[in-house]
Amino acid sequence: MKGILLAGGSGTRLHPMTLAASKQLLPVYDKPMVYYPLSTLMLAGIRDIMLISTPEDLPQFRRLLGDGSRFGVRFAYAVQPKPEGIAQAFLIGKDWIDGQPCALALGDNIIHADHLSALLRAAAGRPQGASVFAYQVRDPERYGVVSFDQTGKAVEIVEKPAVPNSNWAVTGLYFYDKNISRIAPQIRPSARGELEITDLNRVYLESGMLHVEKLSRGCAWLDAGTPDSLLQAATFVQTIQSRTGMLVGCPEEVAFRMGFIDADHLREQALSLGKTELGRVLLELAEGEHA
Ligand code: DAU
Repeated sequence: MKGILLAGGSGTRLHPMTLAASKQLLPVYDKPMVYYPLSTLMLAGIRDIMLISTPEDLPQFRRLLGDGSRFGVRFAYAVQPKPEGIAQAFLIGKDWIDGQPCALALGDNIIHADHLSALLRAAAGRPQGASVFAYQVRDPERYGVVSFDQTGKAVEIVEKPAVPNSNWAVTGLYFYDKNISRIAPQIRPSARGELEITDLNRVYLESGMLHVEKLSRGCAWLDAGTPDSLLQAATFVQTIQSRTGMLVGCPEEVAFRMGFIDADHLREQALSLGKTELGRVLLELAEGEHA
């Protein structure tokens, strides 16, 4: 399975911070925002990753991520000239996807959970249909919202409904089977002029092929698109990391744990981070001091 990291958009809700820098490169505590969804894709076992961003911001992503060998993955890069919708990612990436199954992670979404790796691998391993994750929120009208019948089956999915039928928001992480390259070109722009990811998901839902995994209360899902949520995300990462000594959203660590890189490679990466706390923790991991 391949994976797209979508990191474009104009980040208007974070102006003036995003006037000169991409939102997805802003720091969330000790790492650039894009590291978190990148780690999520890698945890799903995905090693072929296309990063899509604006013409202005793409060079900065290249500078940060390179060819991916640091993390034992392969990066491809593509431009989205204008933010014409999340589902456009599959049109931009069509040749690169080459008829294979493909996941999509939004560059500003952070998911943290104990058993996440198993959930992600199950989603990536499903041979048919699409898989999305739903999370209970207080303000569902800001998101794609999925509702369920009494048996727990997903029956409806709506983008930013004025009156939501449930409080289950669809997170910015999507897994699609190989039909995605055939289905994505069928989507038409919505009333707000965007190719909506929710419309893609509805095609799968209506053919009985949308698997909706409810994330439990023990999981954290954060989007970091406003000053408040950016600060909350940073505080969350700081709290977990300083309390447990474990890292959140660290692609070097995920690469090592997934077997994408070996201990020598990890040590090299840790040393390249100099005297940072992140470098220290990674060095310990490479030396086998963390189980
Ligand atoms: O965060 C999850 C939500 O993401 C889902 O529940 C919604 O169904 C989905 O539409 C999306 O809603 P948002 O209102 O958060 O979408 P937004 O326009 O903010 O875009 C999300 C990210 O994707 C953002 O970091 C910018 C990037 N993006 C967005 C668009 C529309 C692009 O790179 N290109 C685009 O064309």
